[in-house]
Amino acid sequence: VFVFAMWEEAEPVIAHLGLIRRPDSLAGLPARLFSLPDESSSRTDVHVAWNGHNARFHGNNVGTTPAAVTTYAVIQLLKPDLVISAGTAGGFQAAGSGTIADVYLSSKCVFHARRIPAAESGAGSAGSGLQQLEESGFAHIRSPPLARLAQRIGAKIGVVSTSDSLDCSSEDLALLRSEGAAVKEMEAASCAWVCQQSETPFFAMKAITDVVDGAHATQQEFYANLSFAAVALKRAVVALIECLAERPFFEWVGLPVGKL
Ligand code: ADE
Repeated sequence: VFVFAMWEEAEPVIAHLGLIRRPDSLAGLPARLFSLPDESSSRTDVHVAWNGHNARFHGNNVGTTPAAVTTYAVIQLLKPDLVISAGTAGGFQAAGSGTIADVYLSSKCVFHARRIPAAESGAGSAGSGLQQLEESGFAHIRSPPLARLAQRIGAKIGVVSTSDSLDCSSEDLALLRSEGAAVKEMEAASCAWVCQQSETPFFAMKAITDVVDGAHATQQEFYANLSFAAVALKRAVVALIECLAERPFFEWVGLPVGKL
């Protein structure tokens, strides 16, 4: 299952694969689920979940809350072998990830704006419960080893970092740098956390639309590059599905079944 926040990201994949809407599938949520038609000859069972349209403010349901509930709902409904948070993201010149339309797979997913500081010394210092609490904010959810898949589909690998903000405060930037983030976006770590609870294999797959530490304002750069990056993402999604038709995911990541 591919989980997308934006229709502009999901639509090229839905159209290319000929997926059809399942009207009754995610009751109570704005999310929409698209699946292969019954007559499909595809060797891989592919579904796309889109977080849906925001009825109050219009536009897409971006951010961590819709991402989490959609992911939970599709896991309950489909019991998938693999969930992928797919979409677009910011890259970083300083980290070498500032090329528009490059596609990244996650090495791990973190949150960079869930700051729960432990004290410098005493009660909150290293090894204490408060230190653990600070770390739990960042989440640090490792992805399976994806080097072989990345090489086959022409993607790169990097740390994907999530917050609910499109902009980047100076605190955000400091944390993104200290985590070695290559990719900044608004859903992946949230999906990763939900998948971790049910031991559902997960990774993020993101195409770069803007350079966080570059010369242009993020929002303008994002919209200027969105459709170009969405096409690059669709190509990578299709290549990934071909790989998974060749052999199952656990073989690509070199782990025995049940050890993801
Ligand atoms: N999605 C695309 N670009 C982004 C950015 N710079 N930050 C967060 N989400 C994004």
